Amino acid sequence: MPLKILITAGPTLEAIDPVRYISNHSSGKMGYALAIESRKMGHQVFLVSGPVSLKKPEKVTLISVTTAKEMYDTVVNLAPEMDIIIKAAAVADYRVQKAALQKIKKSEPEMQLTLVKNPDVLKKLGKLKKKNQILVGFAAETENCEKNALQKLASKNCDWLVLNDVSKPGIGFNSNQNAVTLYSRWGDKKEWGLASKNLIARKILLAILDRHS
Ligand code: PMT
Repeated sequence: MPLKILITAGPTLEAIDPVRYISNHSSGKMGYALAIESRKMGHQVFLVSGPVSLKKPEKVTLISVTTAKEMYDTVVNLAPEMDIIIKAAAVADYRVQKAALQKIKKSEPEMQLTLVKNPDVLKKLGKLKKKNQILVGFAAETENCEKNALQKLASKNCDWLVLNDVSKPGIGFNSNQNAVTLYSRWGDKKEWGLASKNLIARKILLAILDRHS
């Protein structure tokens, strides 16, 4: 039976002023690969995407957002209907407290920005999780990878967590390839070496669907 799968992808952009922003290197490729492979398996896919330059995957419902707050509102609103939620997006952890309405002039030798924490979408989904809903987080780490990944799996009440060791060259952010470790709350640990993001996406989905079939 087709499942309803919600996938988030890409970065969020947090405005500093009308022409500048804070963001990160996410290209959206991992999230889009998950959406494409989920669709190929016959599922109904909702893709909530930050600003990326990728083509809309066919037969997928695409909802474009810009900021973490917009992603939070969109995802929390859709979540109750979903069977599986996969959070591959790289949500900006902080935003500028008060974005300037006009372009900031570069007259001063230094300037300070006050940043405030963005809402944590995954943590909220972990709190709202329905019985039988599967919640999958990602973790992009550069050190103490396994420890941090397992800590995120537990603290955000995820069922599965995909670890991306982004300190390794040629994988993770903006690359066409990835290498990941998938952990579950039941103690599963599966490691996949360098492969296309589509192949990695397929392996993640098959592992998850296999346990829950
Ligand atoms: O987009 P690509 O270029 O293909 O790169 C893929 C990727 C490296 C972005 C992706 O595979 C990945 O690792 N995504 C998660 C990146 C990240 O933000 O990790 P994190 O450890 O900071 O966040 C942990 C989890 O919490 C993630 O599922 C994230 O979506 C979620 N989160 C984080 C902060 C926040 N405010 N809200 C969230 O929901």
